[in-house]
Amino acid sequence: MRYNARGVGLAGSGEDPLVSVVIPTFNEAEVIEQTIAEVRAVLEREGIEYEILVVDDDSPDGTWRIVKEISERDSHVRLYRRIGARGLSTAILDGIKLARGKYVIVMDADLQHPPRYLPQLIGKALNEGYDVVVASRYARGGGVAGWSRLRLMISKGATLLAKLLVRGARKTSDPMSGFFLVRRDLVLSRVEELRPRGYKVLLEILARIEDARVGEVPYVFEPRRAGRSKLGFKVMLDYVIHVIELSQLAKFAIVGAGGTVVNLAVMYLLLYIAGLGKSVSSIAGIESGLLWNFVFNEMWTFEAGFRKGWLARLAAYHASSAGGFLATFLTMYILSTYMGVNPILGQFMGILVGFIVNYVASSRGVWRIGRERQSS
Ligand code: GDD
Ligand code: MN
Repeated sequence: MRYNARGVGLAGSGEDPLVSVVIPTFNEAEVIEQTIAEVRAVLEREGIEYEILVVDDDSPDGTWRIVKEISERDSHVRLYRRIGARGLSTAILDGIKLARGKYVIVMDADLQHPPRYLPQLIGKALNEGYDVVVASRYARGGGVAGWSRLRLMISKGATLLAKLLVRGARKTSDPMSGFFLVRRDLVLSRVEELRPRGYKVLLEILARIEDARVGEVPYVFEPRRAGRSKLGFKVMLDYVIHVIELSQLAKFAIVGAGGTVVNLAVMYLLLYIAGLGKSVSSIAGIESGLLWNFVFNEMWTFEAGFRKGWLARLAAYHASSAGGFLATFLTMYILSTYMGVNPILGQFMGILVGFIVNYVASSRGVWRIGRERQSS
């Protein structure tokens, strides 16, 4: 059977290919030729219409020169040499934009993602209608060859964090995979929503395209054949920031922590410096914290950017925070009046009591987490 972009057809008929294999490279001169050869062999054996698109960031070791030579004798191979750009995620997104296939498969150049799995990824999408198919190390039958226990633990911990904080990540056992297939038109139609950052393009796609149908194929991640990994400490730090960026709950908590500091600082100033009463100071502190939270949740957590209706959201935010407001004040008042607790400490404990109430109320009532996107 021969496949092309329209489903079934003859290989070599000049139509868009069924699959574009996008291979990002940076200093992979030692291995890129072999990788291209293996990908080509597997896809030709299966009669799948394909192109191979290498996106190289002007590698100092001349990876691009090798690919350029190959592309001159093999029309299945294309090179995009980016000059003055650097970064795995943007390279992959550029590759997806330039690709012509109905499906795009992203894979590493270093043969850690063995090409023999390509037919399974394509078959899964074609036969079962998935928009995204993840090659997963953590699905039954998958694995990693030659990793230390520490590296495995870090990887699993990072995966768990993603699943905890990012809803879309729960659709696959390996949201951190760098080896995956996507339907090109779906990604392109949502491309403005994607913020490429760091290494984790798949995670970004899973998070932003919430309605994607996601399947997976187990695979074994192999040791690098040549060259060395570009994944260092900065990449890990970037990852944590990325997950936070994708998680409304995490952002809400960070904003709330800032609001807590504002709340307590204002109360402290009014109570101890200005000499006002504890009730007035407490209420002014709570309101200051609320305004702080509103501004940052509007701008960052829920990315509403003071668009139309922000006054209504401000009012709704106050209404939905009324329970938390009252809880904070009463906790402070009772603890400080009847139990001899310092009023600032009482206020702090009150804030903790109010936090959960506030998140639930404002996520449902003010910003409608997740719902707008799903219905549009
Ligand atoms: N164009 C471009 N620009 N390519 C890059 C860049 C860059 O800045 N940085 C890395 N690459 C290419 C590498 O040449 C390689 O082909 C691929 O991206 C992955 O880089 P590695 O340095 O080999 O990453 P890794 O093996 O540590 O991590 C891989 O496996 C993980 C587990 O599946 C990546 O695929 C991760 O995304 C993945 O999570
Ligand atoms: Mn690698």
